This record gives sequence, structure tokens and C-alpha cells, in this order.
Amino acid sequence: MYQADEARYENMEYIHCGKSGLKLPRLALGLWHNFGSVDPIENQKALLCKAFDSGITHFDLANNYGPVPGAAEENFGRILKNELSAYRDEMIISTKAGYTMWQGPYGDWGSRKYLMASLDQSLKRMGLDYVDIFYHHRPDPQTPLEETMGALSDIVRQGKALYVGISNYNAEQTKQAVQMLRANGTPCLIHQMKYSMFNRAPENGLLDVLQEEGVGSIAFCPLAQGLLTDKYLHGIPEGSIATKSVFLHESDVTPEVIAKVSRLNEIAAERGQSLAQMALSWVLRKNRVTTVLIGASKVKQIEDNVKIIGHLDFTDAELQAIEEILK
Ligand SMILES: NC(=O)c1ccc[n+]([C@@H]2O[C@H](COP(=O)([O-])OP(=O)(O)OC[C@H]3O[C@@H](n4cnc5c(N)ncnc54)[C@H](OP(=O)(O)O)[C@@H]3O)[C@@H](O)[C@H]2O)c1
Repeated sequence: MYQADEARYENMEYIHCGKSGLKLPRLALGLWHNFGSVDPIENQKALLCKAFDSGITHFDLANNYGPVPGAAEENFGRILKNELSAYRDEMIISTKAGYTMWQGPYGDWGSRKYLMASLDQSLKRMGLDYVDIFYHHRPDPQTPLEETMGALSDIVRQGKALYVGISNYNAEQTKQAVQMLRANGTPCLIHQMKYSMFNRAPENGLLDVLQEEGVGSIAFCPLAQGLLTDKYLHGIPEGSIATKSVFLHESDVTPEVIAKVSRLNEIAAERGQSLAQMALSWVLRKNRVTTVLIGASKVKQIEDNVKIIGHLDFTDAELQAIEEILK
């Protein structure tokens, strides 16, 4: 059984998630990639233990993460049981439902039927009595929001999740969902949104709504799946996401993108950071976002990424120079 590093809390920063009492680490680890049935379990164990040793207390899953769908929860559950079970109360474990999980009309979107059944399956796969955060993964235009939010609230009352959140909701949908959850007596803890230097949609109203409503935020794909690192500067390395994922293609690595990445890389170097570190720090600048949600295929990536703590500040000149490149 693994023994966690005694010094694990010394170099991480934790801040309150919105107006809640829950403190979250500035970096969380997501299990979307690299935790499937096709991925070596030893590497999965090493990634999880390195993250926990680095003060990353928050692990993010979803019912469909794999491949095959469900495999990430199963693998996480196995590693939790064998290595990390003594630390369950030091961990924030989240999962979600909202995308296609099983066949037929009850395995997708946002009905009460789907959310309740899916969370029961997730708890079984992970070997847990409860998750810390349960999310509705994407808005469902065909289910009344009252039904979806009602299911989330009842899940909290049943003790199967301590907090609830939403993901991929736009500003207006978020406002409505947050108000419903508050009226139900089970406030929305957090919004999980796509946000990076290359995807700034949350700046068009969503971040303002979250601020006004006192809801925390966690940014996924903060490195644009690796584009905002130096790894593609000199071609596409074998084994990288661009060579094996349907979500990032070799054709996304265009000369225009690489020209921007190259200029950003120079600013990062002047700041004494890698580009990956600067891209993560930028998401967290001015504390508008609670946490960056990283993915990692190698232990070294986690080691490098957590070094941003203590280096989250930007000068006005640096921010201006970055804006010039991004516009
Ligand atoms: N709510 C949603 O709808 C939603 C959607 C997508 C993701 N998510 C969550 O967000 C998490 C993170 O997403 P993501 O994996 O796309 O995040 P990301 O941080 O943008 O990309 C992660 C990838 O970047 C590369 N990388 C990480 N650190 C690096 C470093 N220091 N140097 C060089 N390369 C580095 C690795 O790629 P290689 O594998 O090529 O080494 C890694 O797999 C997911 O696991 C999931 O939990 C949520």
C-alpha cells in the first residue's frame, strides 16, 4: 500500500470554491484520457499517486471516461481501494452524467431517470458510498431544467453526492440552473467549463454570472489538450494526443497555431516558465477561476505543472503582450 508524501500540502494552494466552505486545490487531475482499459494500470497508479503527493486532492471523472466507457471509474476505484483508501477523506472525487452512456432512451442527456441510474452505476464502479461532486455534464434542451436540477438536489439529499455542479452550460442557462438549485436548498458549488488561451468563451458573460452568484469554476482543457505546450513546436511527437485522439487531430496543429505557440513560448521563457506553466497560470490569473483541470500522460507533466504555484501573477505588460498574440 502506497504511503503519501508527508510534505504533500506544503506547496499547493487551496482556495474556497465560490462562496462555499469547500477549499479546492488550484490544480486538479482529470481522468478523461490515459485511464482507460487500453492504458497501463501502473502508469495510472503513478499518475494518481504523484498528483496526491503534490497536493492535488481533487480527481475528476465522468461515467463515460475510458475507453471503454466506465473504464476510468473502474480503474480509479481499483487504485483507490489498493493504494489510496486511507486517504478518502483527504480527496474530492467528482463524476458526471450527461453524454451517451448506455443504449436506449435512458442512457443519455438530463432526465431524472438517467442521472439517478448513472450515479448509482458510477458509485459501484468506483467502490464509493458517495462522490464529493456530481455534475450534469451538458445542458439538455429537451428536458425541463426543473427536472434535471431537481434530480441533482435529490441526489444531495440522498447522500450520494455532497455537492453538485454543472458543465458546459452557457451564461443564461447557468443563471437559471444556479437559481433553481439555490431555491431547492442545494446550492450549485461549481461550473466546469472549457477555458484556455485558445478558447475564451467563458469571458463572454459566464465568468461574470459565476462571480455574481458566488459559484466556483474549474477550467478543462486549459492546455488545449497539449497545443499550449512546447511539444508540437517541432512536429508531432509519436504517442501524443494529436496522434491518437478523435478530439485533437494532426490537422489542428496548423502553421498559424504553431506561430502563436512559438511567440507565447518566448514570453513564457522570459517569465521563467514553460509554456504549459504559463498557460495554466494565465487561466488562474486574478483568481477568477478556482481550479485548472489538467490531464497528464506522464508523471513528469504533473511535476512540471504543479510548479505554477507561487507564479500565478502577471504584469500588465505581460498580459498585454499575450493579448497581442491571441487576438
Ligand atoms: N466537462 C467536460 O465536458 C470536459 C471535457 C473535456 C475534459 N474535461 C476534463 O478536463 C480534464 C483535462 O482535459 P485535457 O486532458 O484536455 O486537458 P489539457 O490539460 O488541456 O491537456 C492534457 C494533455 O496535455 C499534455 N500535457 C499536460 N501537461 C503537459 C506538460 N507539462 N508538457 C507537455 N504536455 C503536457 C498531455 O498530452 P499527451 O497525452 O499528448 O502527453 C495531456 O494529456 C479531463 O481529464 C476531464 O477531467 C471535461
